[in-house]
Amino acid sequence: MPGDDLLPLKTDALAKIAAAQNPETLDEIRVSLLGKSGALTARLKQLGTLAPEDKKTRGAELNVLKTTLTDALAARRETLDQAALTARLAAEKIDISAPPRPEPLGAIHPISRTMEEIATIFGAQNFAIKDGPDIEDDWYNFSALNIPAHHPARAMMDTFYLNASHGNRPAVLRTHTSPVQIRTMLEWARLHATLTEKPPIRIIVPGRTFRADHDATHSPMFHQCEGLVIGKDITLAHLKGCLIDFLRAFFARPDLPVRFRASYFPFTEPSMEVDIGWNKKTGELGGGGDWLEILGSGMVHPNVLANCGIDPREFQGFAFGMGIERITMLKHGISDLRLFYESDIRWLKHYGFSPLAPATLHEGL
Ligand code: PHE
Repeated sequence: MPGDDLLPLKTDALAKIAAAQNPETLDEIRVSLLGKSGALTARLKQLGTLAPEDKKTRGAELNVLKTTLTDALAARRETLDQAALTARLAAEKIDISAPPRPEPLGAIHPISRTMEEIATIFGAQNFAIKDGPDIEDDWYNFSALNIPAHHPARAMMDTFYLNASHGNRPAVLRTHTSPVQIRTMLEWARLHATLTEKPPIRIIVPGRTFRADHDATHSPMFHQCEGLVIGKDITLAHLKGCLIDFLRAFFARPDLPVRFRASYFPFTEPSMEVDIGWNKKTGELGGGGDWLEILGSGMVHPNVLANCGIDPREFQGFAFGMGIERITMLKHGISDLRLFYESDIRWLKHYGFSPLAPATLHEGL
């Protein structure tokens, strides 16, 4: 189109470019000018039809215009990109000076807390933690513990019998953690059968236990912690020292009175009930003149050792078992055992422990 005035094309194109508000519009403008059938492309195509002289001037004009438009497109593009980035930065700005929203923090259930404290105190005395199945058979729960069939102790325990059996042994929900004594000693005897110097056993067994019983101080599911120490020269003095230390540490009272009272368990001989001093009227622990029964203990009965393949002439030791709910209620002044299992969030908020709070143990951890 010789003689065609390129000025209107240029003016119009630059105005459109300047007015474009987004990359898409800008792209449409670019195609309409420089695309296959764009206005500028059409003119460039016509160059071939011109006489050499005209071609030269026209070609130069078109090239200048092409550069002008290309630059204008790029500049506008840059401006739009910058504006978009600025807008995004403003929108996504985080106010780091704002205080964080409080995260709801759970609380540790008092039963779990007591188990942790027990593990810590006995851990310091080099005890290991063992566990065993909730569903036992009556050999582990009774017979191996020197409680034969028809022994009154079986009736005493309000056992849940299951409609199942392990081989020909009736299955029961364990009524105490003592069957883990048996499992531990059997495993120990098997593992160390060929050793002449056998290592001692020193374990605690925190866990669930079950009895058909339900009132303010009994729940059909509750928790116990068993203890077992076996060695060549373990005596009743060790039992006493170990438990006195534990009770004073757990109740955070270095002067807590502790009394050992003769008792009876089929699996220990001699057997002792352990009492701590308290004041019946105020409920306060310490030297209040009254005694509160807290756990059962004794020297492991020779029959029990023999049942586990351990020679009672060579080894002896002590065992104890305590109710976790009971010592937790005493330590924290909780009066009704059933509240432990109601999952009432208000109760848990009041009696639960912050995961970050230090343990309240005598002499710390
Ligand atoms: N198993 C006994 C109970 O449940 C407690 C106990 C354990 C007593 C170990 C002596 C030795 O009452």
